[in-house]
Amino acid sequence: MKVLVTGANGQLGTDLCKVLRDFELIPLTDKDIEISDMSSVKQAFSKYKPGIIINTAAYVRVDDCEDEKDKAFSVNALGARNVAVVAQELGARLVHLSTDYVFGGEAEPRTTPYTEFDTPVPLSIYGKSKLAGENLVRHFCLRHFIVRTSGLFGVAGSMGKGGNFIETMLRLAKERDELKVVNDQVFSPTYTVDLARKIVQLMITDYYGIFHITNRGACSWYQFTTEILKLAGITTPVVPITSDQYPQKARRPRYSVLDNSHLRLLGMDDMRPWPEALKDYLVARGHIA
Ligand SMILES: NC(=O)c1ccc[n+]([C@@H]2O[C@H](COP(=O)([O-])OP(=O)(O)OC[C@H]3O[C@@H](n4cnc5c(N)ncnc54)[C@H](OP(=O)(O)O)[C@@H]3O)[C@@H](O)[C@H]2O)c1
Repeated sequence: MKVLVTGANGQLGTDLCKVLRDFELIPLTDKDIEISDMSSVKQAFSKYKPGIIINTAAYVRVDDCEDEKDKAFSVNALGARNVAVVAQELGARLVHLSTDYVFGGEAEPRTTPYTEFDTPVPLSIYGKSKLAGENLVRHFCLRHFIVRTSGLFGVAGSMGKGGNFIETMLRLAKERDELKVVNDQVFSPTYTVDLARKIVQLMITDYYGIFHITNRGACSWYQFTTEILKLAGITTPVVPITSDQYPQKARRPRYSVLDNSHLRLLGMDDMRPWPEALKDYLVARGHIA
């Protein structure tokens, strides 16, 4: 079975390519395909005729999306549409990556995990563009798996964001006397290796639809940071602050924990707790033995 991966050199794409070794892999980077250009998508997909397409490519700079709305919708919504249309034409299955940031915009603040059956209300342009992408995928490709995940960390680091949160905190902890980190945004950190393995299990089933896939448990960015530094043996103090004390261009959900309900109903939710995954990541990056 041929499996085509877009964003193959990205944070998730890199680990997907590693766990797809039993398949005939077609890894495409942004040099091989421009998903916002239908003719580029048609050309790339029809050349390889994959049975499964995993679309990780996206415009992921959440704050920049606020200023570059056209680019956000062009890549995250219309790019997803292009991929879905051509996947359907080829009779391929499509795994499309989405985000917890499709949630969080309700008037009543949420305090319990979101299931796949909750109605998304995004807060930011990034969230809106990713939700538009989900809807277009659902409309144009019958055999789809829409995978919402959150707070990704992977050894490759996010290409779009120029690294990842863990590496930034480890660097800043060495440079500064103390770190101030937001304590009122709660989410589920997720290791790209664990996510990639679960996607590979899922994509060969007939359980199409929307899936939340995150590591187990939840924390704030402050709690995440204290665990990173604790595991790395770094004693720099971490001070909790509010989102208002750390203004960012895009509004972010105060709570965007995803419940892997669809996986659980299928008996497939064996995602491990995020601190265990974090430890493995720190070992893989050589930060701890
Ligand atoms: N990172 C997170 O915390 C997070 C959380 C929830 C959901 N997600 C979703 O998970 C997916 C993977 O995220 P990631 O962290 O692996 O991102 P990433 O490291 O930035 O990887 C995305 C890849 O897509 C490529 N790309 C971007 N625009 C493209 C385009 N128009 N055409 C073709 N390729 C393009 C990028 O190449 P260049 O960088 O060279 O442009 C990059 O290699 C995304 O769909 C994202 O929305 C991410």
